[in-house]
Amino acid sequence: MAELRSLADALGSLPPLEAKVRLEEVRSFLVERLVPHEEHEDREVFPMLAQAARSDDMTSALHRTHTEIFHLIRLADRLVADIPEEGPAPEDLNDLRRVLYGLDAILRLHMAQEEELYMALGDEHPAATAPAAAAAA
Ligand SMILES: [Fe+2]
Repeated sequence: MAELRSLADALGSLPPLEAKVRLEEVRSFLVERLVPHEEHEDREVFPMLAQAARSDDMTSALHRTHTEIFHLIRLADRLVADIPEEGPAPEDLNDLRRVLYGLDAILRLHMAQEEELYMALGDEHPAATAPAAAAAA
């Protein structure tokens, strides 16, 4: 789900009502699934990984990326909430596109960072089930 980049690409050509529906799907995925997942990592997973790696260098970098991801998701949440009943107007599209491309890029980076950490620990990245993987796919 949440093909952020392809939705951003398509925004200009989608009928406004369809754009609204798809943006709302993306918003609920980000807010209801991705944010809880990343918060869980911050609370439960990273402390364990930092301990296993005997260093918190990697996990504090990942934690900073989370902070930026949360910031972009709050922005996306607000922009989507502001979309009028009839769908986004052409002048709304630039901000929406910008936040979707930004999230796509940072989530890809974040996945790569996490993969590197799991690899360093000789572990499999739980990517198949991770919401970030689904968002970046
Ligand atoms: Fe994460």
